[in-house]
Amino acid sequence: MMKTKRLFAISLLFFLIIAGCSSKKTNTDVGRNDTQKVKIEDTHSDDGRTVVGISMPDMLLERWNRDGLFLKEQFEKNDCEVILRYANNLIDTQVNDLRDMINSGADLLVITAVDGAALSDILDEAAEANIKIIAYDRLLMDTEAVDYYVSFDNYQVGVLQANYVIDALALDSAEKTFNIEFVSGDPVDNNARFFYGGAMDTLKPYIDSGTLNVMSNQTGFYETSTAQWSTDLAQQRLQIILNSYYPSGTILDAVLCANDSTALGAARALEADYSEKNPVVLTGQDGDIANIYNIFDGVQSMTVFKAMDNESVVTADLGLAILSGSKPDADLIDTSNWDFSCDYNTTDYDNGVRVVSSYLLQPITITLDNIEEELFDTGYYSRNSAGLIYAVK
Ligand code: BGC
Repeated sequence: MMKTKRLFAISLLFFLIIAGCSSKKTNTDVGRNDTQKVKIEDTHSDDGRTVVGISMPDMLLERWNRDGLFLKEQFEKNDCEVILRYANNLIDTQVNDLRDMINSGADLLVITAVDGAALSDILDEAAEANIKIIAYDRLLMDTEAVDYYVSFDNYQVGVLQANYVIDALALDSAEKTFNIEFVSGDPVDNNARFFYGGAMDTLKPYIDSGTLNVMSNQTGFYETSTAQWSTDLAQQRLQIILNSYYPSGTILDAVLCANDSTALGAARALEADYSEKNPVVLTGQDGDIANIYNIFDGVQSMTVFKAMDNESVVTADLGLAILSGSKPDADLIDTSNWDFSCDYNTTDYDNGVRVVSSYLLQPITITLDNIEEELFDTGYYSRNSAGLIYAVK
């Protein structure tokens, strides 16, 4: 075992010297399509295979199913073997999934953590085995063992939701006070803090000036949070708020929900326990099919869409660049060929141990006004002959 490790360390050193001598950027040879395949150096196992382990948090949320399939497709296009696992929102299952991937000779792990801070030990094991690690969408916390982070500008997601509320209620010219409630995300998901931060920073001046009022007085991140982004928990919490603070005649103007699964819960709570007739502004994020229906039905006002297919393209390009021997902690990919924007960020994503180099894509606001153009004309969704919406991509 020791011998193999030493042999491995020596070959790694040799490889690093060679890689260091070769060109710094690999972006010209990183695949954009089937015809431009990368010759990947197999930096981990010496069996000639390039194995990519993709560990997704759960299958219940529509988006992770799609992310998993997009990622798989991107890596397979480039001759990688893919192990794709879903952890059922359980930390232990995710640790076991990752251990299986390590044992199966993974060269690269792409991980969306159930709990960002709960994987340190298994990530250390992976790093010791020289496996490269990309945190996908959610940052891996409290660990050195993460090479890069690929996500959307998570703070901007919250800003878009808040700006929607400001415009929808015309807060800048408001002559009365509007009531709003907040439904934040899962506190063990680092993204939830960014969504909350973006929304709260944007709305705080209106709360401070009294244009916005929070009847429940619940404005902090933890008190508004929703464990596991659960629809049921979001529904229960809002029902309690409605029953306690919104007696008949008290108007609720907006519910700022961090994402679509919580927005579904909020919509159900409003249907069950809110008897006033005004339309309540309701935000979301992801563009899940159930929420697209709710937008068409006027039940949800907007969603923030994050093009997961693009997120997977960035991740695959980056993963292939790392596996080709490019040095970590540098801007490895050429984003100029894409028709979407993606920024390299080396300042904003501190995981508690270090700032992780990140690639961030841009989210967009979807409302009734642009839903056809952005989600249907672009081919994300279509309708069957019975008019039912289905995901194409
Ligand atoms: C993602 C969101 C998603 C949420 C719940 C977050 O980390 O960024 O898109 O709605 O998790 O799964």
